[in-house]
Amino acid sequence: MTKRALITGITGQDGSYLTELLVGKGYEVHGVMRRASVFNTDRIDHLYHDPHLPGPPVRLHYGDLTDGTSLRHILDAVRPDEIYNLGAQSHVLVSFQIPEYTADTVAVGALRLLEAVRDFVGSRGGAVRLYQAGSSEMFGAAPAPQSEATPFHPRSPYGVSKLAAHWYGVNYREAYGLFVCNGILFNHESPRRGETFVSRKVTRAAARIKEGLQDKLYLGNLEAKRDWGFAGDYVEAMWLMLQQDVAEDFVIATGEARSVKELVELAFAEVGLEWSNHVEFDPRYLRPTEVDFLQGDAGKARQRLGWRPKTGFVELVRMMIAHDLDLARQERMLKGAGYAAPPRGAATLKQH
Ligand code: NAP
Ligand code: GDD
Repeated sequence: MTKRALITGITGQDGSYLTELLVGKGYEVHGVMRRASVFNTDRIDHLYHDPHLPGPPVRLHYGDLTDGTSLRHILDAVRPDEIYNLGAQSHVLVSFQIPEYTADTVAVGALRLLEAVRDFVGSRGGAVRLYQAGSSEMFGAAPAPQSEATPFHPRSPYGVSKLAAHWYGVNYREAYGLFVCNGILFNHESPRRGETFVSRKVTRAAARIKEGLQDKLYLGNLEAKRDWGFAGDYVEAMWLMLQQDVAEDFVIATGEARSVKELVELAFAEVGLEWSNHVEFDPRYLRPTEVDFLQGDAGKARQRLGWRPKTGFVELVRMMIAHDLDLARQERMLKGAGYAAPPRGAATLKQH
């Protein structure tokens, strides 16, 4: 029997890698996509085909985590075996600017999905397994290294909302016996990372400065430390969690922490530049409350899931730099040939 998976946030970084993984395992994959005024499927265009043409079994459904009815209808249409709730307003600094919307998508969105699943299981029967995308941001100010046993102390509206979603998941597991796994994932990046997260902002800027397309990079706090892994490795852990006999929560991390400054030094060194000649401080990128030090202990995932990261920090930064250098070179060539518009994805730098 072909398994069916439903992914919220399929158009995001993790959604695209997870779709690749599940298609490779023979799943029929369905995704919830928000309506946008332009095409917003860049990250999955290589997987998604016009439904009139043969291609990988990936189907998209319009829906939104702020719209519980749409989620309930999609469950009836898809009848999934597994659900991965990756949809979120996922930017920490932005969550201070739009806290209510962040809570609506991240916290109440997870609750809406759980309620829809509870209703679906109640009326249709059968078993549905649900992965909830939790975050190391829930640990916030808790001392490193952080594991499943570490008490949470979130430091942003995003972190608080993820923590509510985490506890909704635990509660629906205990109250209704739903199979819900909370993944507590530390930062994970890739060439498909959104351009306003620090890793991608840095690798794009280093590549564009190298290619003469910009001169400066403006950043906030360089002292914060993060445990950065590769998104492609982390989606495997999501899938593994849902293959266990018992639903549990798992920390997923590399166990190594680096500062933002180390990331910047490495990225600029990769393109042969001295970072301090190009990086400027801009206080607009500071958060009202910062998370200083995240370093995960993924011992439980190693033992129980057999999961361990395959990609190290240096390899990750090299992969992202190689990708962004390609984009910057395309942009430079197009500009040289007199085209005003850069290729999509290499859009001129707006330093959000
Ligand atoms: P991302 O690239 O920002 O993708 C977020 C996805 O959520 C996008 O597909 C986005 O759609 C969708 N979305 C946003 N608001 C929505 C709404 N109201 N209804 C339905 N979908 C909505 O995030 P990511 O890096 O792939 O992360 C995946 C999940 O893991 C997120 O929940 C994130 O908070 C969590 N997480 C990420 C990390 C990390 O380091 N990457 C670590 C821990 C946890 P559009 O494409 O239309 O914007
Ligand atoms: N985005 C950004 N932009 N961050 C900057 C900048 C800048 O210009 N300058 C310094 N930083 C610092 C931030 O203050 C933070 O300490 C660190 O770089 C990482 O910031 P982000 O890349 O935005 O990631 P994050 O750690 O806040 O959140 C990401 O990881 C979480 C897991 O811990 C997101 O992916 C969240 O969705 C995820 O849950």
